[in-house]
Amino acid sequence: MLLLHLSDVDEAAWARTMAREVGDYPVVRRGDDFDPRDIRYIFAWKPKPDAFDGLTNLKAILSLGAGVDALLKHPNLPGDVPIVRFVDDDLSQKMSDYVAAHVTMHHRRYSRFHADQQARRWTQYYPPAASTSTVGIMGMGVLGQDAARRLLPLGFTLRSWSRTPKSIPGVEGFTGADEFDAFLSGTDILVNLLPLTPGTEGILNADTFAKLRRTLDGGPVIINAARGGHQREADIVAALTDGTLGAASLDVFEVEPLPVDSPLWGIENCYITPHIAAISNEETGVIYFANVLKDHEAGKPLINVVDRARGY
Ligand code: NDP
Ligand code: OXD
Repeated sequence: MLLLHLSDVDEAAWARTMAREVGDYPVVRRGDDFDPRDIRYIFAWKPKPDAFDGLTNLKAILSLGAGVDALLKHPNLPGDVPIVRFVDDDLSQKMSDYVAAHVTMHHRRYSRFHADQQARRWTQYYPPAASTSTVGIMGMGVLGQDAARRLLPLGFTLRSWSRTPKSIPGVEGFTGADEFDAFLSGTDILVNLLPLTPGTEGILNADTFAKLRRTLDGGPVIINAARGGHQREADIVAALTDGTLGAASLDVFEVEPLPVDSPLWGIENCYITPHIAAISNEETGVIYFANVLKDHEAGKPLINVVDRARGY
């Protein structure tokens, strides 16, 4: 039996589509009449504290989110059950859409022209070619690699930072803590697509900002579409105010929704979106998870299993 436990999304709609996709396999929702011992799979997003109570025969936890940081912090997460996270072309495309839009906007000095427009000022400044801007992508996993693949044809110079070495044509790779500073020192536009783990928490901080290259007119830029826990918002406010950073695009925040009294709202060169960079798509999502379930029931190994020791 598959249990859906999805908060902050239309669980009923997901349940209907999922039931269609898994055929005869029984699907239940919280509140339905079922014996928790019959649940073999739980499909979860933002699970409540009691989400796993009584689920003593689970075979796998299916995470609607690509990021599993919150799930891994769940106080009652069963210790020995594999977690399958969401990996999906539609999700990757949407994230890359966000990244490409913001990289291009900053490369074309949107902040500068917007300020000129507000001041009714005609100043002909000509942004250089994309190749002069180096985009540094932190996190070269599913999303980082897709973003790189889509930025390359736009002409940007690309570099990446990951935990283990990567060899991606057209992308200069940097690896691990030892090469972090070298990575930053050649980066004009820093894109964060890391998972949130103890090793990456707070990585977007004053120290990091001070190490970025300062060749982009107006100063280096950060784009965070991963998790709010990666950023120190007080440092971002200070860096945007004192010119250490030229601009920031933030899709995620330390506290979500971003509190109305956050100073970030009022900073002109801070571009805020409400955690919408990439949302899991119901149509492709149910196909992915239904296949995971059906394949596993047929004896095939699970895919995209989270490594709990690594934290992602
Ligand atoms: P992956 O697990 O595929 O990739 C993670 C990448 O980060 C890997 O390249 C990994 O290195 C690297 N990494 C992890 N830890 C470190 C470290 N300590 N130092 C250097 N590199 C590190 O994740 P995805 O690409 O699928 O997703 C990334 C994140 O995006 C998710 O965890 C989620 O938080 C966020 N997200 C945000 C969304 C939004 O709407 N804002 C939507 C979807 C996801 P290696 O390759 O060597 O293992
Ligand atoms: C995710 C997200 O992790 O939507 O999938 O943030």
